[in-house]
Amino acid sequence: MQTRLLSDRKVLITGAANGIGAALAEHFAQLGMTVALVDYHADRLAEKHRELADQGYKVSSYCTDIADFSKCQAAYEYFYNEIGFIDTLVNNAGISPKHEGSAHKIWQLSPEEWQRVVDVNLNGTFNFIRLLVPQMIEHKFGKIINTSSVAAHAYLPVVACHYSTTKAAIIGLTRHLAGELGTYNIHVNAIAPGRIETPMVLEVGDQVNQRVIDDTPLGRLGSPMEVAKVVEFLVSNDSSFVTGQVVDIAGGWLMR
Ligand SMILES: NC(=O)c1ccc[n+]([C@@H]2O[C@H](COP(=O)([O-])OP(=O)(O)OC[C@H]3O[C@@H](n4cnc5c(N)ncnc54)[C@H](O)[C@@H]3O)[C@@H](O)[C@H]2O)c1
Repeated sequence: MQTRLLSDRKVLITGAANGIGAALAEHFAQLGMTVALVDYHADRLAEKHRELADQGYKVSSYCTDIADFSKCQAAYEYFYNEIGFIDTLVNNAGISPKHEGSAHKIWQLSPEEWQRVVDVNLNGTFNFIRLLVPQMIEHKFGKIINTSSVAAHAYLPVVACHYSTTKAAIIGLTRHLAGELGTYNIHVNAIAPGRIETPMVLEVGDQVNQRVIDDTPLGRLGSPMEVAKVVEFLVSNDSSFVTGQVVDIAGGWLMR
């Protein structure tokens, strides 16, 4: 079985300009990995790139919307020319639209909003997997982490049904691909964060977050870096016999 040191590895992170993705970018860069950052927020992405490059880390970045396959293909080609084979993929970017801090109920939801969430959360996850896997097969090495949510496991009134549906679908995709790709030494796992203190979560206001904290055995929100540490384990050689799993990072909220 082939293993590779993290310091020799190259990781593509989507949604890397903010929140959990930004923490992943910082943490992996500090571990010596080459980080390829994707986000559609141009200013924040450029700032994150600069911040990491100024510290001497190996960084490349591409601004695009992950919902569009042809744009992801252009990003993939850019990175391939810049840094070569990417052995690790963290599909992190995701959206959870709110309206004045609340999620729409099914009877309020527009088909356009439903479609956009499917395009970003689910198709966006498919896109880079589809693009990176052929090279991973060739190299007989790959680590893929998909981002689900505890909203895939239970009803959370704070999100809309498009969000929980796409996050549940990501678990199906993860398990299927773990089965399909294991023979090529490609590991595919998912994380299911609970409430992590990021701009996405702070959008809903203190009261909602306090209710989650009250129901969480560890009695607080998680931090983006606590998510990054679990992802580090999942992409490292230490998890070499772990694939097709969903790891909850939720402070004990909903023990399954
Ligand atoms: N924060 C939480 O409590 C929590 C809980 C469970 C799951 N998650 C999941 O973790 C992931 C990261 O969440 P976060 O809280 O850090 O979110 P965030 O909103 O703070 O950051 C998401 C990043 O993704 C980027 N992005 C969004 N859509 C994009 C697109 N179409 N193309 C390119 N970039 C895009 C945004 O610009 C942003 O930089 C998401 O998939 C989210 O669903 C978060």
